[in-house]
Amino acid sequence: MENQNSIVVSFILLPLFLASASAQLSQNFYANTCPNVESLVRSAVEKKFNQTFITAPGTLRLFFHDCFVRGCDASVLLASPTNQAEKDSADDRSLAGDGFDTVIKAKAAVDSDPMCTNKVSCADILALATRDVVNLVGGPFYRVELGRRDGLISTKTSVNSHLPKPGFNLDQLNTMFASHALSQTDMIALSGAHTIGFSHCGRFSNRIYNFSPTNRIDPTLNLQYALQLRQLCPVNVDPSIAINMDPTTPQTFDNAYFMNLQQGKGLFSSDQILFTDPRSKPTVNLFASDNAAFQQAFVTAITKLGRVGVLTGDQGEIRQDCTRVN
Ligand code: HEM
Ligand SMILES: *[C@@H]1O[C@H](CO)[C@@H](O)[C@H](O)[C@H]1NC(C)=O
Repeated sequence: MENQNSIVVSFILLPLFLASASAQLSQNFYANTCPNVESLVRSAVEKKFNQTFITAPGTLRLFFHDCFVRGCDASVLLASPTNQAEKDSADDRSLAGDGFDTVIKAKAAVDSDPMCTNKVSCADILALATRDVVNLVGGPFYRVELGRRDGLISTKTSVNSHLPKPGFNLDQLNTMFASHALSQTDMIALSGAHTIGFSHCGRFSNRIYNFSPTNRIDPTLNLQYALQLRQLCPVNVDPSIAINMDPTTPQTFDNAYFMNLQQGKGLFSSDQILFTDPRSKPTVNLFASDNAAFQQAFVTAITKLGRVGVLTGDQGEIRQDCTRVN
């Protein structure tokens, strides 16, 4: 009888072991090798955040761009002497330097603990720093899965086709996110990241100055907001000018982004389409009316984002300098 039971138990447990073997990330991955990793990262990130707010949106967007291109392997941090790395692509050149600097500083803080030196991957430090910045600007605190290894490859040419464009429609967004096992709800919750941070005028100027056939404003854009955007971003604006993406609470991680969408104040077409397309509208309305529901969905989604294409076990390496392979 005992024997029979253990056979039954192993049949039930075997698939569970197999399922977890494919993910291989765990919340307590550094419990024995660097038990203070979370507080070391937290204080470095907090110090950097106290110096500049851009730490928050810069780090959050950096994590997204890392994970969507070759997986969450810190490939976005690698520098190329001939400017051929991911960070040299058109899209990644607009990543805020303060995001990179946050990871470099947190890595230095971690490595300054003799127990931790060269034990924690840059990919994990970016994942932890992302959690910390979200929390510092009023977002949820959540446990971060760890155990990622750092990648060895970063190529400029791989970026363009792997990141969503601000002109994407719902099908294009869903297709790209689904290719990383992220659902439409995950995609909508993650888009809520646009509740903080900045955009350069050129990324949405087609919506406020459409010169063909006439000097037209995108009809899905709130007219008053569009006129405000025209003032912030005049026709021949300095391309370095960037404006807040959330016109109401630009420095708080809240559900204002979704309330803005209800009023036609989504900055990009890819934001506004979430409200105008009837398939995603109910989720936008839910998140707009229930901040807790948004934050919960965001935690689920960013945890799934953090699993995309990860290297684990003896794949890749633990980079000593986040900007170059060992
Ligand atoms: C859904 C498709 C998405 C599109 C089309 C998109 C596009 C963009 C664009 C064009 C910018 C402005 C960049 C600039 O001009 O400097 C931006 C900024 C930003 N995005 Fe997204 N994004 C998307 C999803 C996400 C996701 C999933 C996240 C994170 C979870 C994210 C986080 C951010 C942040 C925080 C900023 C502000 C960066 C800063 O202030 O430095 N975005 N995004
Ligand atoms: C950052 O600023 C806050 C609020 O002023 C302060 O409580 C905190 O100790 C500072 N953190 C660091 C690491 O400097």
